[in-house]
Amino acid sequence: MRDAHLGQIFVQQDELAHRVRALGEQISADYAGRELLLVCVLKGAVFFLSDLMRGLEVPCQVDFMAVASYGSQTETSGVVRIMKDLEEPIAGREVLIVEDIVDSGLTLQYLLRALRAREPATLEVCALLTKPERRKVELPIRYVGFEIPNRFVVGYGLDHAERFRNLPYVAALDEGRAPAEAGSRQSPT
Ligand code: IMP
Ligand code: MG
Repeated sequence: MRDAHLGQIFVQQDELAHRVRALGEQISADYAGRELLLVCVLKGAVFFLSDLMRGLEVPCQVDFMAVASYGSQTETSGVVRIMKDLEEPIAGREVLIVEDIVDSGLTLQYLLRALRAREPATLEVCALLTKPERRKVELPIRYVGFEIPNRFVVGYGLDHAERFRNLPYVAALDEGRAPAEAGSRQSPT
């Protein structure tokens, strides 16, 4: 049965599959002749990564990072801490950050700065979702799956309090009826 907290579906399962395949083709063309290192931001981007990566036709490797941002359940403060770092150096590598969603952009801004300091050959971003209305900092996001309105969404890896990641589509969370949350927290994105 569909959870009562779920609202409108923003991206259906077949739209996800279609768009992720197109992104894979575009990235494969752009990186032809090069070897790509995908940096997947845990945990939300894992579902997107695994579908995207299977569509890539260039040689590629993957590494994972986990960051925690301090803030409320639905709002980041921009204060970010690395909880799990990459296993390998990225100097001289062609790096593509794979993110689930860019909201204020503060988490990604922090990540870009941290990784740029390690001197990769190139550093680009592929985000499944973006909420342009919410952006607090302008960032170069080379690949975007879908632009969505200013709503909190869950599914296809995205969570609310660790729930709903397993949904095969992206849906709004009906925040009015969402379970009550305690104040401050530190959350793995
Ligand atoms: P930002 O720093 O405000 O851009 O957001 C950082 C993180 O907040 C994202 O990587 C997500 O983990 C989480 N986030 C932002 N918006 C949503 C949403 O609508 N649903 C689920 N997670 C979100
Ligand atoms: Mg999250």
